[in-house]
Amino acid sequence: MDIHSQKILILDFGSQYTQLIARRVREARVYCEIHPYNAGIPFIRSFGPKGIILSGGPSSVFDKGAPRIPAELFELGIPVFSICYGMQLTAKIFGGEVERSRRREYGPATILIDDTEDIFHGLRSRKLEVWMSHGDRVKRLPEGYRAIAHSENSVVAAMKNKELNSFGVQFHPEVVHTPKGRKILENFLFRVCKCKPVWTMSSFIEDAVRSIREKVGRGKVICGISGGVDSSVTAALVGRAVGRRLTCIFVDNGVLRKGEAEKVYATLRRNFDMKIRKVDASERFFRRLKGVKDPERKRKIIGNEFIKVFEEEAKKIKGVGFLAQGTLYPDVIESVSFKGPSATIKSHHNVGGLLKRMRLKLIEPLRELFKDEVRELGRELGLSEELICRHPFPGPGLAIRILGEVTPERCRTVREADAIVLEEIKNAGLYTKMWQAFAVLLPVKSVGVMGDERTYENTVAVRMVESVDGMTADWVRLPYDVMGRISSRIINEVKGVNRVVYDISSKPPSTIEWE
Ligand code: XMP
Repeated sequence: MDIHSQKILILDFGSQYTQLIARRVREARVYCEIHPYNAGIPFIRSFGPKGIILSGGPSSVFDKGAPRIPAELFELGIPVFSICYGMQLTAKIFGGEVERSRRREYGPATILIDDTEDIFHGLRSRKLEVWMSHGDRVKRLPEGYRAIAHSENSVVAAMKNKELNSFGVQFHPEVVHTPKGRKILENFLFRVCKCKPVWTMSSFIEDAVRSIREKVGRGKVICGISGGVDSSVTAALVGRAVGRRLTCIFVDNGVLRKGEAEKVYATLRRNFDMKIRKVDASERFFRRLKGVKDPERKRKIIGNEFIKVFEEEAKKIKGVGFLAQGTLYPDVIESVSFKGPSATIKSHHNVGGLLKRMRLKLIEPLRELFKDEVRELGRELGLSEELICRHPFPGPGLAIRILGEVTPERCRTVREADAIVLEEIKNAGLYTKMWQAFAVLLPVKSVGVMGDERTYENTVAVRMVESVDGMTADWVRLPYDVMGRISSRIINEVKGVNRVVYDISSKPPSTIEWE
């Protein structure tokens, strides 16, 4: 069965949780896409979803200019599941009464289920722990709807209209704080919409390989690889489709982690039958970065230089027609999203100019996928667990972890310190439990003693964060003994460092990187 035939459309009203809804649906093995709430009826018809989910959102139905949808959406014969703002909007459309409450209800709540036929099927207990986050609430039910759950003070917590196959919930089933939320969403997908769980990464591979082959024909493809998950999975997938007509280009920009260039090259070489060109361009990058202290300028210089080196290398390959890039779904949503609450975490190299100059067509085989799906896909394709579970590493590399000027010497310092940080947390079994861990070289010198001598040397800050998507993060409560080992090893083993500090800031208001 076509993996895209069973799909759900999520209409976004700007909720911070919209991407979570999509991830829950995908985890249930049903394909879904997020589109802005005003995507329009013709689009919905041509998209052909088996069900529609209306997300929550920050607006109130009483706001002037609050996002609206046409009533026609409910008459397409497609089941609709509306969450929070979506439910209030549904109530309003069908003539119910929505009440503005003075204060926002935010946090855990308990509701009572009155109807176990559809979305609340098979939940065992009548009592349901849910997560609320809303200002308004439905006071009087709209025409044709009845309550299927209520709160302890008898407010409607969920409603349905069986004829229209329209369901609404006041709470957020997509967040983990609604423990049975997953089951409720699955009931909607499988009981109400009659979807089949066909979205798996092994069937995705077949589908993607076929469409890459169709697009590329007998053409040649190039792909930049960085050692990160996204570019490696892209290369592996495209490689599976076109074999040795793919050439990967790996640019060593001089600001990579210790042993990175060699490791990535060796891993891909060993596991895949593709052509790989490794270019050592570190000198060029250092030359350009000389004297530059401003973080955004560093980013620009590295980005531009990368494109230049990549282009020079690409031109050496005759007859290239395509560029493969590891763009993920969150980046795609960001560009179409309503107000874009789901911010992206990564700035892609701007390849527009390159495509034009070299007359290349872009292939982005991961554009439909979330990060966790990319990892699953990587496993299916046979990439090593080490590669798949790697922490994100910024494109500008160690350059934005060296505050002040980037010199080969300062780069060596932070690289050595970084290697110790990683080695120690891997030894402590903590690597896969955190989002990122790294060392930062500060532009601060301080006094110390070593043996009988007074020193005046550099400071290294150690940063470790937990996060689900990089948009928010908290610092890791690292056991003191691990902290102690990292500190003494850095001071003893890395020349030019006599002080180590631990970063205890969360994001927001800080960022993960220091620059
Ligand atoms: P911040 O520092 O903004 O980082 O909290 C969020 C996530 O993005 C990564 N990051 C970058 N990735 N180019 C990249 O490819 C960049 O310029 C860049 N800046 C930050 C960062 O490592 C974290 O995972």
